[in-house]
Amino acid sequence: PARPRVFSGIQPTADSFHLGNYLGAVRHWVALQDTHDAFYCVVDLHAITAGHDPKVLRQRTRVAAAQLFAVGLDPERSTLFVQSQVPEHPQLAWVLGCITGFGEASRMTQFKDKSQKQGSDRSSVGLFTYPILQAADILLYQAHAVPVGEDQRQHLELSRDLAQRFNSQFGKTFVVPAPHIVKDTAKITDLQDPTAKMSKSSSSPSGIIDLLEDPARSAKKIRSAVTDTGREIVFDSETKPGVSNLLTIYSALTDRSIDDLVAAYAGRGYGDLKKDLGEVVREFVTPIQERTRAYLDDPAQLDKLLAAGAEKARAVASATLHETYERVGF
Ligand code: ADP
Ligand code: NA
Repeated sequence: PARPRVFSGIQPTADSFHLGNYLGAVRHWVALQDTHDAFYCVVDLHAITAGHDPKVLRQRTRVAAAQLFAVGLDPERSTLFVQSQVPEHPQLAWVLGCITGFGEASRMTQFKDKSQKQGSDRSSVGLFTYPILQAADILLYQAHAVPVGEDQRQHLELSRDLAQRFNSQFGKTFVVPAPHIVKDTAKITDLQDPTAKMSKSSSSPSGIIDLLEDPARSAKKIRSAVTDTGREIVFDSETKPGVSNLLTIYSALTDRSIDDLVAAYAGRGYGDLKKDLGEVVREFVTPIQERTRAYLDDPAQLDKLLAAGAEKARAVASATLHETYERVGF
Protein backbone atom coordinates (compact mmCIF):
# COMPACT_ATOMS: atom_id res chain seq x y z
CA PRO A 1 0.00 0.00 0.00
CA ALA A 2 1.05 3.61 -0.55
CA ARG A 3 2.69 5.32 2.37
CA PRO A 4 0.60 7.79 4.33
CA ARG A 5 1.30 11.33 3.32
CA VAL A 6 2.69 13.88 5.75
CA PHE A 7 2.82 17.66 5.30
CA SER A 8 4.67 20.24 7.34
CA GLY A 9 5.87 23.79 6.85
CA ILE A 10 8.39 26.07 8.49
CA GLN A 11 8.73 29.84 8.23
CA PRO A 12 11.90 31.48 6.95
CA THR A 13 11.77 34.16 9.61
CA ALA A 14 15.28 33.90 11.07
CA ASP A 15 18.82 33.78 9.72
CA SER A 16 19.20 30.25 11.02
CA PHE A 17 17.13 27.53 12.63
CA HIS A 18 17.83 27.16 16.33
CA LEU A 19 18.24 23.96 18.30
CA GLY A 20 14.60 24.11 19.41
CA ASN A 21 13.42 24.15 15.79
CA TYR A 22 15.72 21.27 14.97
CA LEU A 23 15.00 19.05 17.97
CA GLY A 24 11.31 19.91 18.21
CA ALA A 25 10.43 19.80 14.52
CA VAL A 26 12.94 19.37 11.72
CA ARG A 27 14.59 16.29 13.21
CA HIS A 28 11.23 14.52 13.03
CA TRP A 29 10.76 15.61 9.42
CA VAL A 30 13.94 13.74 8.57
CA ALA A 31 12.78 10.61 10.39
CA LEU A 32 9.32 10.68 8.78
CA GLN A 33 10.90 10.22 5.36
CA ASP A 34 11.35 6.54 6.24
CA THR A 35 7.69 5.88 6.87
CA HIS A 36 5.75 8.56 5.00
CA ASP A 37 5.39 10.22 1.63
CA ALA A 38 6.64 13.56 2.89
CA PHE A 39 5.88 17.07 1.61
CA TYR A 40 7.80 19.85 3.34
CA CYS A 41 7.45 23.51 2.62
CA VAL A 42 9.37 26.68 3.41
CA VAL A 43 6.33 28.88 3.97
CA ASP A 44 7.48 32.27 2.73
CA LEU A 45 3.88 33.47 2.13
CA HIS A 46 3.33 33.09 5.86
CA ALA A 47 6.46 35.10 6.56
CA ILE A 48 5.09 38.42 5.25
CA THR A 49 2.11 38.79 7.57
CA ALA A 50 3.87 41.15 9.96
CA GLY A 51 6.16 43.27 7.82
CA HIS A 52 9.46 42.21 6.27
CA ASP A 53 12.43 43.20 4.13
CA PRO A 54 12.29 41.59 0.63
CA LYS A 55 16.06 41.02 0.37
CA VAL A 56 16.22 39.47 3.80
CA LEU A 57 13.22 37.26 3.13
CA ARG A 58 14.68 35.97 -0.14
CA GLN A 59 17.98 35.13 1.57
CA ARG A 60 16.33 33.51 4.58
CA THR A 61 14.16 31.35 2.32
CA ARG A 62 17.26 30.02 0.58
CA VAL A 63 19.14 29.49 3.83
CA ALA A 64 16.16 27.66 5.32
CA ALA A 65 15.98 25.33 2.31
CA ALA A 66 19.75 24.78 2.33
CA GLN A 67 19.64 23.90 6.04
CA LEU A 68 16.79 21.46 5.51
CA PHE A 69 18.74 19.64 2.82
CA ALA A 70 21.85 19.83 5.03
CA VAL A 71 20.19 18.14 8.02
CA GLY A 72 19.09 15.24 5.85
CA LEU A 73 15.94 15.98 3.88
CA ASP A 74 16.50 13.89 0.80
CA PRO A 75 15.04 15.36 -2.39
CA GLU A 76 14.93 11.86 -3.88
CA ARG A 77 12.68 10.56 -1.12
CA SER A 78 10.64 13.58 -0.11
CA THR A 79 9.37 16.77 -1.65
CA LEU A 80 10.84 20.02 -0.35
CA PHE A 81 9.63 23.24 -1.93
CA VAL A 82 9.06 26.94 -1.43
CA GLN A 83 5.42 27.93 -0.90
CA SER A 84 5.42 31.01 -3.17
CA GLN A 85 6.50 28.81 -6.10
CA VAL A 86 3.22 26.91 -5.94
CA PRO A 87 0.40 29.39 -6.70
CA GLU A 88 -2.29 26.86 -5.78
CA HIS A 89 -1.75 27.67 -2.08
CA PRO A 90 -3.37 31.12 -2.11
CA GLN A 91 -5.88 29.95 -4.74
CA LEU A 92 -7.22 27.23 -2.47
CA ALA A 93 -6.99 29.55 0.54
CA TRP A 94 -9.51 31.88 -1.13
CA VAL A 95 -12.06 29.09 -1.51
CA LEU A 96 -11.52 27.91 2.07
CA GLY A 97 -11.79 31.48 3.32
CA CYS A 98 -15.27 31.62 1.82
CA ILE A 99 -16.44 28.69 3.96
CA THR A 100 -14.74 29.96 7.13
CA GLY A 101 -16.88 31.90 9.56
CA PHE A 102 -15.62 35.32 10.58
CA GLY A 103 -16.25 34.44 14.22
CA GLU A 104 -14.53 31.11 13.76
CA ALA A 105 -11.38 32.82 12.44
CA SER A 106 -11.60 35.41 15.20
CA ARG A 107 -11.31 32.68 17.81
CA MET A 108 -7.78 31.68 16.77
CA THR A 109 -5.72 32.33 19.88
CA GLN A 110 -2.46 32.84 17.99
CA PHE A 111 -4.00 35.73 16.06
CA LYS A 112 -5.38 37.18 19.27
CA ASP A 113 -1.96 36.97 20.96
CA LYS A 114 0.01 38.35 18.04
CA SER A 115 -2.42 41.10 17.13
CA GLN A 116 -2.60 42.15 20.75
CA LYS A 117 1.18 42.52 20.77
CA GLN A 118 1.17 44.52 17.54
CA GLY A 119 -1.93 46.55 18.27
CA SER A 120 -5.07 45.63 16.34
CA ASP A 121 -4.83 48.61 13.96
CA ARG A 122 -1.36 47.58 12.90
CA SER A 123 -1.94 43.86 12.44
CA SER A 124 -2.68 42.80 8.88
CA VAL A 125 -5.61 40.95 7.37
CA GLY A 126 -2.95 38.43 6.29
CA LEU A 127 -2.20 37.68 9.93
CA PHE A 128 -5.92 37.16 10.49
CA THR A 129 -6.34 34.76 7.55
CA TYR A 130 -3.03 32.97 8.16
CA PRO A 131 -4.70 29.80 9.56
CA ILE A 132 -6.83 29.56 6.39
CA LEU A 133 -3.71 29.62 4.22
CA GLN A 134 -2.26 27.02 6.53
CA ALA A 135 -5.33 24.84 5.97
CA ALA A 136 -4.82 25.21 2.21
CA ASP A 137 -1.15 24.17 2.60
CA ILE A 138 -2.21 20.93 4.23
CA LEU A 139 -5.38 20.09 2.27
CA LEU A 140 -3.78 20.66 -1.16
CA TYR A 141 -1.54 17.64 -0.57
CA GLN A 142 -4.29 15.41 0.83
CA ALA A 143 -2.04 14.92 3.84
CA HIS A 144 -3.08 12.24 6.32
CA ALA A 145 -0.70 13.39 9.01
CA VAL A 146 0.60 16.74 10.18
CA PRO A 147 3.26 16.88 12.88
CA VAL A 148 2.14 19.57 15.30
CA GLY A 149 3.36 21.14 18.47
CA GLU A 150 0.94 22.39 21.11
CA ASP A 151 0.96 25.92 19.59
CA GLN A 152 -0.42 24.70 16.26
CA ARG A 153 -3.15 22.39 17.52
CA GLN A 154 -5.97 24.88 17.10
CA HIS A 155 -4.91 25.65 13.53
CA LEU A 156 -4.90 21.97 12.61
CA GLU A 157 -8.34 21.66 14.17
CA LEU A 158 -9.51 24.43 11.81
CA SER A 159 -7.99 22.57 8.84
CA ARG A 160 -9.92 19.46 9.85
CA ASP A 161 -13.16 21.42 10.24
CA LEU A 162 -12.74 23.08 6.84
CA ALA A 163 -11.97 19.76 5.12
CA GLN A 164 -15.07 18.17 6.64
CA ARG A 165 -17.25 21.18 5.89
CA PHE A 166 -16.15 21.37 2.26
CA ASN A 167 -16.59 17.60 1.83
CA SER A 168 -20.11 17.62 3.20
CA GLN A 169 -21.15 20.74 1.29
CA PHE A 170 -19.61 19.95 -2.11
CA GLY A 171 -18.74 16.23 -2.06
CA LYS A 172 -15.73 14.31 -0.81
CA THR A 173 -12.65 16.19 -1.98
CA PHE A 174 -10.17 16.42 0.88
CA VAL A 175 -8.48 13.94 3.15
CA VAL A 176 -9.18 15.05 6.74
CA PRO A 177 -5.71 15.43 8.27
CA ALA A 178 -4.85 14.02 11.68
CA PRO A 179 -2.25 15.35 14.08
CA HIS A 180 0.94 13.31 14.08
CA ILE A 181 2.07 13.24 17.67
CA VAL A 182 5.77 12.64 17.95
CA LYS A 183 6.79 10.62 20.97
CA ASP A 184 9.49 12.16 23.15
CA THR A 185 9.39 15.53 21.41
CA ALA A 186 12.11 17.56 23.00
CA LYS A 187 10.89 20.90 24.34
CA ILE A 188 14.05 22.96 24.39
CA THR A 189 14.16 25.88 26.78
CA ASP A 190 15.98 29.19 26.73
CA LEU A 191 19.51 28.89 28.15
CA GLN A 192 19.12 32.14 30.06
CA ASP A 193 15.53 31.51 31.15
CA PRO A 194 14.95 27.77 31.45
CA THR A 195 11.26 28.25 32.16
CA ALA A 196 10.66 29.78 28.70
CA LYS A 197 10.99 27.95 25.39
CA MET A 198 14.00 28.63 23.21
CA SER A 199 12.62 30.99 20.57
CA LYS A 200 13.91 33.32 17.89
CA SER A 201 11.88 36.05 19.60
CA SER A 202 13.71 35.42 22.87
CA SER A 203 14.82 38.56 24.66
CA SER A 204 18.41 37.42 25.01
CA PRO A 205 20.48 36.14 22.07
CA SER A 206 22.59 34.15 24.51
CA GLY A 207 19.51 32.09 25.36
CA ILE A 208 19.33 30.44 21.95
CA ILE A 209 21.72 28.26 19.97
CA ASP A 210 21.57 28.77 16.23
CA LEU A 211 22.55 25.85 14.01
CA LEU A 212 24.63 28.16 11.84
CA GLU A 213 26.48 30.12 14.51
CA ASP A 214 30.15 29.62 15.36
CA PRO A 215 30.26 26.55 17.64
CA ALA A 216 32.72 28.40 19.91
CA ARG A 217 29.93 30.91 20.51
CA SER A 218 27.47 28.10 21.24
CA ALA A 219 29.93 26.54 23.70
CA LYS A 220 30.26 29.88 25.45
CA LYS A 221 26.48 30.26 25.73
CA ILE A 222 26.24 26.76 27.17
CA ARG A 223 28.97 27.54 29.72
CA SER A 224 27.00 30.55 30.90
CA ALA A 225 23.61 28.81 30.80
CA VAL A 226 21.47 29.42 33.86
CA THR A 227 21.43 26.43 36.18
CA ASP A 228 20.18 26.13 39.73
CA THR A 229 22.32 26.52 42.83
CA GLY A 230 22.55 22.81 43.63
CA ARG A 231 25.46 20.71 42.43
CA GLU A 232 23.94 17.40 41.50
CA ILE A 233 23.34 16.51 37.88
CA VAL A 234 19.86 15.02 37.94
CA PHE A 235 16.92 15.31 35.58
CA ASP A 236 13.94 17.16 37.03
CA SER A 237 12.30 19.74 34.75
CA GLU A 238 10.30 21.17 37.67
CA THR A 239 13.03 21.88 40.19
CA LYS A 240 16.08 21.83 37.91
CA PRO A 241 14.88 23.13 34.52
CA GLY A 242 18.29 24.48 33.46
CA VAL A 243 20.28 21.28 34.01
CA SER A 244 17.41 19.20 32.66
CA ASN A 245 17.39 21.26 29.44
CA LEU A 246 21.13 20.67 29.00
CA LEU A 247 20.60 16.94 29.54
CA THR A 248 17.72 16.94 27.04
CA ILE A 249 19.87 18.59 24.38
CA TYR A 250 22.81 16.29 25.13
CA SER A 251 20.66 13.18 24.93
CA ALA A 252 18.91 14.28 21.72
CA LEU A 253 22.16 15.08 19.91
CA THR A 254 23.86 11.83 20.90
CA ASP A 255 22.26 8.47 21.15
CA ARG A 256 22.65 8.39 24.93
CA SER A 257 19.62 8.22 27.19
CA ILE A 258 19.11 10.76 29.97
CA ASP A 259 19.58 7.98 32.54
CA ASP A 260 22.86 6.99 30.99
CA LEU A 261 24.06 10.61 31.07
CA VAL A 262 22.96 11.10 34.69
CA ALA A 263 24.89 7.95 35.66
CA ALA A 264 27.95 9.05 33.71
CA TYR A 265 28.00 12.49 35.39
CA ALA A 266 27.34 11.25 38.94
CA GLY A 267 29.68 13.06 41.31
CA ARG A 268 30.78 15.55 38.63
CA GLY A 269 29.91 19.24 38.39
CA TYR A 270 27.86 21.37 36.02
CA GLY A 271 31.11 22.68 34.53
CA ASP A 272 32.03 19.25 33.15
CA LEU A 273 28.56 18.72 31.71
CA LYS A 274 28.57 22.13 30.05
CA LYS A 275 32.03 21.72 28.61
CA ASP A 276 31.19 18.32 27.16
CA LEU A 277 27.87 19.54 25.77
CA GLY A 278 29.69 22.39 24.01
CA GLU A 279 31.79 19.74 22.32
CA VAL A 280 28.73 17.63 21.43
CA VAL A 281 27.10 20.66 19.82
CA ARG A 282 30.28 21.46 17.90
CA GLU A 283 30.49 17.93 16.53
CA PHE A 284 26.84 18.01 15.60
CA VAL A 285 26.67 21.39 13.87
CA THR A 286 30.01 21.36 12.04
CA PRO A 287 29.01 18.98 9.23
CA ILE A 288 25.58 20.64 8.98
CA GLN A 289 27.23 24.02 8.57
CA GLU A 290 29.59 22.64 5.92
CA ARG A 291 26.75 21.12 3.94
CA THR A 292 24.61 24.25 4.27
CA ARG A 293 27.48 26.34 2.94
CA ALA A 294 27.96 23.94 0.03
CA TYR A 295 24.30 24.36 -0.98
CA LEU A 296 24.50 28.13 -0.67
CA ASP A 297 27.77 28.28 -2.61
CA ASP A 298 26.08 26.64 -5.59
CA PRO A 299 22.97 28.78 -6.13
CA ALA A 300 22.19 27.23 -9.52
CA GLN A 301 22.06 23.76 -8.00
CA LEU A 302 19.91 24.94 -5.08
CA ASP A 303 17.51 26.65 -7.52
CA LYS A 304 17.34 23.43 -9.50
CA LEU A 305 16.51 21.34 -6.43
CA LEU A 306 13.82 23.80 -5.38
CA ALA A 307 12.36 24.00 -8.88
CA ALA A 308 12.16 20.21 -8.98
CA GLY A 309 10.48 20.21 -5.55
CA ALA A 310 7.96 22.82 -6.68
CA GLU A 311 7.20 20.81 -9.80
CA LYS A 312 6.52 17.65 -7.76
CA ALA A 313 4.38 19.67 -5.35
CA ARG A 314 2.42 21.32 -8.17
CA ALA A 315 1.55 17.98 -9.73
CA VAL A 316 -0.41 17.15 -6.58
CA ALA A 317 -1.58 20.66 -5.73
CA SER A 318 -2.99 21.42 -9.16
CA ALA A 319 -4.98 18.18 -9.23
CA THR A 320 -6.54 19.03 -5.86
CA LEU A 321 -7.26 22.62 -6.90
CA HIS A 322 -8.78 21.46 -10.19
CA GLU A 323 -11.16 19.13 -8.38
CA THR A 324 -12.01 21.82 -5.84
CA TYR A 325 -12.83 24.34 -8.59
CA GLU A 326 -15.01 21.78 -10.37
CA ARG A 327 -16.97 21.12 -7.21
CA VAL A 328 -17.39 24.80 -6.41
CA GLY A 329 -18.74 25.51 -9.89
CA PHE A 330 -15.81 27.26 -11.60
P1 ADP B 1 10.16 30.16 17.22
O1 ADP B 1 9.51 29.63 18.47
O2 ADP B 1 11.62 30.34 17.35
O3 ADP B 1 9.44 31.38 16.70
P2 ADP B 1 8.70 28.72 15.27
O4 ADP B 1 7.47 29.11 16.00
O5 ADP B 1 8.94 29.28 13.91
O6 ADP B 1 9.96 29.01 16.16
O7 ADP B 1 8.71 27.14 15.24
C1 ADP B 1 9.09 26.34 14.16
C2 ADP B 1 8.99 24.90 14.61
O8 ADP B 1 9.94 24.63 15.64
C3 ADP B 1 7.63 24.55 15.21
O9 ADP B 1 7.30 23.22 14.81
C4 ADP B 1 7.86 24.60 16.70
O10 ADP B 1 6.99 23.74 17.42
C5 ADP B 1 9.31 24.14 16.81
N1 ADP B 1 9.96 24.77 17.97
C6 ADP B 1 10.23 26.08 18.10
N2 ADP B 1 10.85 26.33 19.27
C7 ADP B 1 10.97 25.13 19.91
C8 ADP B 1 11.53 24.73 21.17
N3 ADP B 1 12.09 25.60 21.98
N4 ADP B 1 11.49 23.42 21.50
C9 ADP B 1 10.92 22.53 20.66
N5 ADP B 1 10.38 22.84 19.47
C10 ADP B 1 10.39 24.12 19.08
NA1 NA C 1 6.92 30.97 17.56
